[in-house]
Amino acid sequence: MLDSCAAGCHNARMRSVLLSGSSHPALAADVAATLGTTLGRCTVERFPDGECDVDLHDHVRGAEVFVVQSLSAPVGEHLLELALIADACRRSGASSVTAVVPYLGYARQDRREVGREPLGARVVADLLGSAHLERLVCLDLHSRAVEGCFPLPVEHASAIPALTEHLKTRLPPNAVVISPDLGAVKRAEAFARPLGLPVAVVHKQRLSGADVKAQGVVGDVKGKHPVLVDDMISTGGTLAAAAQAVLEEGAQGPVTVVASHGLFVGPANERLAKVPLARVVVSDSVPMPKGLTFPLERVSCAPVLAKVMERLLTLA
Ligand code: R5P
Repeated sequence: MLDSCAAGCHNARMRSVLLSGSSHPALAADVAATLGTTLGRCTVERFPDGECDVDLHDHVRGAEVFVVQSLSAPVGEHLLELALIADACRRSGASSVTAVVPYLGYARQDRREVGREPLGARVVADLLGSAHLERLVCLDLHSRAVEGCFPLPVEHASAIPALTEHLKTRLPPNAVVISPDLGAVKRAEAFARPLGLPVAVVHKQRLSGADVKAQGVVGDVKGKHPVLVDDMISTGGTLAAAAQAVLEEGAQGPVTVVASHGLFVGPANERLAKVPLARVVVSDSVPMPKGLTFPLERVSCAPVLAKVMERLLTLA
């Protein structure tokens, strides 16, 4: 359990403070509740010229501070806010600042595909590295290799155990786990293993940031219930194309879709609404967009984040 960080605490023994940025206060509150504590008071407002105005209203001197901030849209704003909160904590005497970033935006820009483009994941890592952070806690990074971009220790938590636990009693016995592209096969195996299911793979070609094309299916899906798994659902293009490909190969709809991060941006709702869906299961690593019309089930990632934080405090 984190030591109390209630408003106005002057306890000299105070060792830890949990703060929330503005991106996902509901998740931060759930993490606090799981840890049996309350959130420290931190406000984020805007100056008239649009600059971010961060204020800490509780003492953090000598404390180990944890800041919960998902890098969902607007990604740049949330990133800078996190860096400013970390800076405010350090300048106010915090002994360490750990960023708890359940969804790390820009992680997909982990390599240069065609040449004249930035390595976005590295730029974000460098920005966070310069924000006086002690370490970073992440959840299901787009690829493990992203960790190598950071000049600070990264604790990599996973929502996969909670997601598979949720699915265990909800899938028919003839289910097959589908990786929607070749790069996600290891993740599909991590889902399939605890469920005792086989894996098939869709060969995906990305046409643009929002459009993909499925080019074929490797593995036996005929007559089986497809469970499509991915690290994230952004515009829904990847999973909609994969669903169509496996159904054309004779898989038995409706399909189950599961991912760690459910962003559901742009045409996601429209695309997924056209897929015959049993359910879409995601964690609550980012806030839920309004107006989604497909059957959505959200699994809390607060327990796994709280567990990692508790472990860090015990070891400190
Ligand atoms: C790609 O490599 C990722 O793992 C996801 O498959 C992709 O980013 C999902 O994006 P969208 O939902 O826009 O297809």
